[in-house]
Amino acid sequence: MANNQDRRPLIAGNWKMNTTIDQGLALAKDIVKTITPTKADVVLCPPFTHITEVGKIVADTDIEVGAQNMFYEESGAYTGEISAEMLISIGCNYVIIGHSERREIFKETNEDVNKKLHAALKAGLKPIVAVGETLEEREQNKTEDKIKNQVTKALVGIESLENIVFAYEPIWAIGTGKTATPEQANDVNRYIRAILGSLYSPDQAKYTRIIYGGSVNPENADILMNEPDIDGALVGGACLKCEHFAQIINSASSG
Ligand code: PGA
Repeated sequence: MANNQDRRPLIAGNWKMNTTIDQGLALAKDIVKTITPTKADVVLCPPFTHITEVGKIVADTDIEVGAQNMFYEESGAYTGEISAEMLISIGCNYVIIGHSERREIFKETNEDVNKKLHAALKAGLKPIVAVGETLEEREQNKTEDKIKNQVTKALVGIESLENIVFAYEPIWAIGTGKTATPEQANDVNRYIRAILGSLYSPDQAKYTRIIYGGSVNPENADILMNEPDIDGALVGGACLKCEHFAQIINSASSG
């Protein structure tokens, strides 16, 4: 893989609201059996209800566990919410923040994303911050404006990029089978890195992982991962099939 040597690839599987506990544990067991030692970091993000048990299944491996969301307050009267501290207490290492489904369906704002990022880092979670444009925005040449706004607002008051991962996920490519071309994805990832360089330092930007998500599958993973600014993938649909997920991990680990 032609990825920059300074960044270890990351493949995260976003299970979304899929699988019962039995199905989820069977999938996790299959993944543990199938995945061979890899040069990529591998993270499973199952539903909250499965995290503890999936954590036990991957305990003796290098595979880590993440959550798909969290709330920014530490505790209190927030019915239905889960805090960063709670996630840490069940062995979670990563958390996806600002996924477009959270932004679109649950009306999460850039300010919410920023508060969640602060809370996640404070608790010791590694946040995967998702950003991306709609098809309409892309067609109107507003992709860069949208990305710059999301990235900049997510990072308000954040002192360092350490432990933060960004995921570029064009909304029109999520769950649609329509993937960004490697060039489109790399262009935006490179643009994100340039924003990070100007907000922090070129050095911090150089070491920050920026992954791609949106209909990543075993067929397109190789060419996407080959791009110099794509440091891995946030995988939705394809991560629910062990064999497909394993193939994507191999794409990120080769070379
Ligand atoms: P997809 O989802 O791979 O099914 O397009 C990616 C994501 O939403 O993270």
